[in-house]
Amino acid sequence: MADQYAQPGEDKRPTDIPAIRWEEPPEGPVLVLLDQTRLPAEEVERVCTDASALVEAIRSLAVRGAPLLGIAGAYGVALAAARGFDVDEAAMALEGARPTAVNLSVGVRRARAAYRSELAGGGDPEQGARAALAAARQLHQEDAEASARMAEHGLALLGELLPGGGHRVLTHCNTGSLVSGGEGTAFAVALAAHRAGQLRRLWVDETRPLLQGARLTAYEAARNGMAYTLLTDNAAGSLFAAGEVDAVLIGADRIAADGSVANKVGSYPLAVLARYHHVPFIVVAPVTTVDPDTPDGASIEVEQRPGFEVTEVTAPQAPVSGAGGGAPVAPLGTQAYNPAFDVTPPELVTAIVTEEGVVSPVTAGALAELCARSRQA
Ligand code: MRU
Repeated sequence: MADQYAQPGEDKRPTDIPAIRWEEPPEGPVLVLLDQTRLPAEEVERVCTDASALVEAIRSLAVRGAPLLGIAGAYGVALAAARGFDVDEAAMALEGARPTAVNLSVGVRRARAAYRSELAGGGDPEQGARAALAAARQLHQEDAEASARMAEHGLALLGELLPGGGHRVLTHCNTGSLVSGGEGTAFAVALAAHRAGQLRRLWVDETRPLLQGARLTAYEAARNGMAYTLLTDNAAGSLFAAGEVDAVLIGADRIAADGSVANKVGSYPLAVLARYHHVPFIVVAPVTTVDPDTPDGASIEVEQRPGFEVTEVTAPQAPVSGAGGGAPVAPLGTQAYNPAFDVTPPELVTAIVTEEGVVSPVTAGALAELCARSRQA
């Protein structure tokens, strides 16, 4: 296939607004989000003054992606504490905002534990709030560091699996700096390959129904000057058949103890295609995404989203999953099947790349060892 399909991105405007930041104006602390439902049309901030505003931002995907959900959850607890709200109530609401990405509860629990332990040690609620904020900031920083290490490990793995260089990588959903304290997970690996002159093309699945690939990954690829090409999700099969994909790189929302990987719906069909076409299927995720308390794929709760996300197409600048109100693409009253994620069994996963190293083959034992190592670090 001619390389005319891989143009370097032209949109090089600097991204001024970080995905998430904590601010302390005189009126009181706030959490400022880059509203991802408005991208790529507009870079608009959404300011949360309490945990319930953050819960709404999480549900509507203004803030999204597993690692960032963890960071947001931790800041949400800090915000509730700093504003004098009931911290346990806020923590429960935040944890329940979306069920699949385990990072959300990891982040919430970490900040809540810091708050509780400060109070248990005789601290007052103000000190508790400071402890929760410190925990959130630490998680944010750790995620940035993990991201850099995943990129390093992932780049080395690509070099081993595809010694010729010039990789053509297919990715799904959005896994870059919009979901992370750093440059992301799977996208960070592709970006490292691009910087090393080893990325020939990034194939970007549009990722129906909410178009995280088209709206967000293409936006990030363009800003980084990467050679990328957008495709509809259902074009992936013919792309593999044409021999145009050297590797699949995706993120994860939860990895069960047996190595089953929950990620954006559409990931599992890519794993099946990859296996059939003898292409490595690589998952990139921080260790916080591995959940030893979820034994297997069947135990992962998959979020079901409203049917209107499938039966209507909303304009990019409108809230993507507000209350419908988009242009209908199906007859009125049509029921839709709309799981947000699917689960890929471990036997279809070539490798899981984490900040602690690469797990391959993916087995329960290797994952348990990885988690133990990370706890000791
Ligand atoms: O529904 P979303 O947009 O939050 O889904 C995000 C994904 O599925 C990502 O691939 C996943 O969180 C990994 S991001 C590092």
